[in-house]
Amino acid sequence: MEFQLKADLKCSGSVSEAVSSSEIAEFVKHCNAELLKKGAPPGCGAEIERWNVAGEKIGLKIVSDRFVRAHDALLRLKNEFGKFLGPHRIGIRGMEIEDYEIAMEWEEGLKIKKLPFVREIKQEEGMLKLFLDVDEFSLEKRIPDRIIRLLEDKKEAARWKGKKEHWELLFESNKKLFYFDKDPTEEMMKRGWIKHAAGRGQWIYGPQLTKIFRTFERILLDEVCKPLGYEEMVFPKFVTWDVWKRSGHAKGIYPEAYYVCTPKTRDPEFWEEVMDYYKVTNEVPLDMIMERIEPVGGMCYAQCPPFWVFLQGKTLPDEILPIKIFDRSGTSHRYESGGLHGIERLDEFHRVEIVWIGTKEQVIEHSKLLQEKYRRIFDEILDIEWREAWVTPWFMAQEGKAGLAELKEVGTIDYEAVLPYSGKWLEFQNVSVNGDKYPKGFSVKLQSGEELWSGCSGVGLERWAAVLLAQKGFDQDKWPAKFRSAVGKLPEIFRFL
Ligand code: SER
Ligand code: ZN
Repeated sequence: MEFQLKADLKCSGSVSEAVSSSEIAEFVKHCNAELLKKGAPPGCGAEIERWNVAGEKIGLKIVSDRFVRAHDALLRLKNEFGKFLGPHRIGIRGMEIEDYEIAMEWEEGLKIKKLPFVREIKQEEGMLKLFLDVDEFSLEKRIPDRIIRLLEDKKEAARWKGKKEHWELLFESNKKLFYFDKDPTEEMMKRGWIKHAAGRGQWIYGPQLTKIFRTFERILLDEVCKPLGYEEMVFPKFVTWDVWKRSGHAKGIYPEAYYVCTPKTRDPEFWEEVMDYYKVTNEVPLDMIMERIEPVGGMCYAQCPPFWVFLQGKTLPDEILPIKIFDRSGTSHRYESGGLHGIERLDEFHRVEIVWIGTKEQVIEHSKLLQEKYRRIFDEILDIEWREAWVTPWFMAQEGKAGLAELKEVGTIDYEAVLPYSGKWLEFQNVSVNGDKYPKGFSVKLQSGEELWSGCSGVGLERWAAVLLAQKGFDQDKWPAKFRSAVGKLPEIFRFL
């Protein structure tokens, strides 16, 4: 990697009048020998290749390798020149970046068309050349380093693309009897149990399916949450950008988010034109609204991230671990791909989110307990046919990083069940050990200084229903006995003429 940076240091007085050329030459030589080589292996580092002084400006051309990147060199020089000129009562007022060029080896096939803070990109003969458009502020914010990291991420992403996401079978249940071979969504629509709502991928669940959802929750509480010592909490369902910055979702959630906006002001006068337009046309003026609102975040997507604000910046005593909590207080929203299908793939869905927090050992151990409890439910109460697979961790997939989880300690197990009517496998819940990702992202520490870990597991109510009904159908006599008695009689309320 090669860096070439041309910049001017702007001084508060005339440098050419205060210091002789030979003194500056001596100083530059000294910087080249010491300051710009600090931290680099012998023979490496940065170098002032050219300099010139004109009145209050010191022009510098810096070249460097990756060891002391040119912008680092410039920031060091700004300081050092300040010290050098101080005795002459001259300070450094600022810097102007004229040109910043970064060149690196690059795969021919991977085209880079656009990058933030880059004015031009040239790609030829296995090289990538970036011409940056940066100022002093962006150098201080380490924008060039972040651009380089972004390129590394893109390289990594390209390597995983094409290859399918990681999937490795861990467990397969026994074969089970299926009593249905149709699409349960269609059947429920026919029976008037559900109706598509006004929104995309959104449904209204009638009393029968709602009772089934509540039964699932009760089973989960009785079989998993209570015996494992969970307590219920209520997590927010609107998620701010800051939460998604900390959870990592800000890296990649954009094509799938349901965005939330607030009015730029509550002042009714500011909104009068919008109201008047609607009253006159009966059309909601979307363009006029867009100008008057501000995106502040999105709707609940992964469910656990906004919980972490509860612990943000805190230190926990070791004795209270492991912490076990769950939330079932609201909907999750995803702008799903075209593959929307009935209650199997939804934009608005209902999930119980289970979160546990502890030391590394506690979190891994607890994940195993949870897996045992789930198996009991699927085997003995719902009596379904399912399998468990080790997959790309949900948080990596959602950040747009589909890498392998090398160690089997951190990562996600997906639970999948076959839908007899289509022969497809549907993921209906997951169990994940998320390592120190969340405690780190939200700055939560442990009193002993030991590493804090966490895990989470999402139980999708629509998915459980889709799987159960697809395999067992609608004849309640055929339902597994324990489930049948847990549900009881399904309510019949509506009739249509
Ligand atoms: N938060 C996890 C997910 O989004 C588990 O629900 O998949
Ligand atoms: Zn989660």
